[in-house]
Amino acid sequence: MIEYRTLRIALLGAGSVGSQVAALLLEHGDELAARAGARLTLTGIAVRDLDAPRDTALPPELLTTDARELILGADIVIELMGGLEPAREYVLLALGSGADVITGNKALLATHGPELFELAEQVGAQLYYEAAVGGAIPIIRPLRDSLAGDRVKRILGIVNGTTNFVLDRMDSAGEDFATALATATALGYAEADPSGDIDGYDAAQKAAILASLAFHTRVPVEAVHREGISGITAEDVEGARKAGYVVKLLAICERLTDPATGTDGVSARVYPALVPREHPLAAVRGANNAVFVEAEAAGSLMFYGAGAGGIETASAVLGDLVSAARRHVAGGPGVAESTSGGLPVLGIGQVTTQYRVTLTVLDKPGVLAGIASAFSEHGVSVEAVEQSIGTAGGAADEGTASLVIGTHRAPEAALAATVAALSDTEAVVAVRSVLRIEGE
Ligand code: NDP
Ligand code: HSE
Repeated sequence: MIEYRTLRIALLGAGSVGSQVAALLLEHGDELAARAGARLTLTGIAVRDLDAPRDTALPPELLTTDARELILGADIVIELMGGLEPAREYVLLALGSGADVITGNKALLATHGPELFELAEQVGAQLYYEAAVGGAIPIIRPLRDSLAGDRVKRILGIVNGTTNFVLDRMDSAGEDFATALATATALGYAEADPSGDIDGYDAAQKAAILASLAFHTRVPVEAVHREGISGITAEDVEGARKAGYVVKLLAICERLTDPATGTDGVSARVYPALVPREHPLAAVRGANNAVFVEAEAAGSLMFYGAGAGGIETASAVLGDLVSAARRHVAGGPGVAESTSGGLPVLGIGQVTTQYRVTLTVLDKPGVLAGIASAFSEHGVSVEAVEQSIGTAGGAADEGTASLVIGTHRAPEAALAATVAALSDTEAVVAVRSVLRIEGE
């Protein structure tokens, strides 16, 4: 039998993901040792409540409420508690003691990433976080390693399962937003307080992580433009379907040129967008996630699968654990955070997008010309106009018409100014919906 050296593994958290990580580590220890080249000994599991029910049966003697002592006796620390504090304090303690850290905590990375990466680099340790974006889907390692020799141009990600489930129900079952959210809650996809998912905070944290990696540039979560899905109506989804689109909450990370200065920058943004039905992301159903990457040399790549779930996410954590163990065995410092790109993060106003605007307008001569001039005055070129008369088109009253205007790509600031001007136009009864088109 091969004699492996032993690495001491401390696990912080035994919830949905942590309990599965512990169970798999205990069950597959020999197999993982052979792959890692080291025996991985779980020395303890820090929890809040020793008596809380667990998803899997864990040896009670491993549970402890003394996270600090556990951390200080470990070679590798796996943080699966969630939240900012004490997760940040514990990760800093672990790195400071020279341990490698594995985390699935996107909130922690998006908020305190620079502090954690800097300490890891100072002490020669490494921070692994494959589970932080897309659950089971390998996307961190592909961006950090596999695509390190390429130039990523754009990422379109469905990175939040709850919102994808809700939008998919609205699209496939014709439910309105409230009903679809209630379905998501009843089936256990949405949390009791779903605002972190619905309002796009979770996706914005993931966008910050993906953009930082893809563009070798620090992108703080505060710089991510964020819009949620609570304003999406059944009419938006139905109109999109008829026009050949599906509404998806996208995390978009893009390398672009600032139209004002002509210099390169990056954009990270989250909003519900119209995706053409033939785009691979349109086929991502239910609570699944997918990240569509466009790179200069590699072309288009899509990473797809379960974006959450205890055992699925545990797979990503254990992959990181094997990587961390191999590094310990091989020796040498960890791979530092890559920030060599140093690109400025551009605001939403500097992004170029396409809009699809739905209006209720007065049905009388000259209205269409007035509306067209609102677009041209702001330098926005109209691509297509669809009109339907009266209530059949979804407009409120007789004497009105429903207008759907699709634009060519234009600076977001110009599009926003056009919509503001339309709202102030007498002939416009209501701006019913403004949605961006992505993926064309
Ligand atoms: P849970 O809420 O299910 O579990 C959290 C665990 O951490 C619990 O065991 C809890 O202890 C423990 N804990 C919390 N605070 C402390 C503390 N102060 N001291 C000691 N232990 C503490 O979380 P999840 O497993 O769902 O998520 C863990 C991490 O993984 C999060 O960062 C999450 O964002 C990320 N993640 C989760 C996914 C998922 O599908 N669930 C998918 C991808 C990432 P106790 O049980 O005693 O209360
Ligand atoms: N709340 C997240 C989602 C879990 O719905 O995708 C995974 O981060």
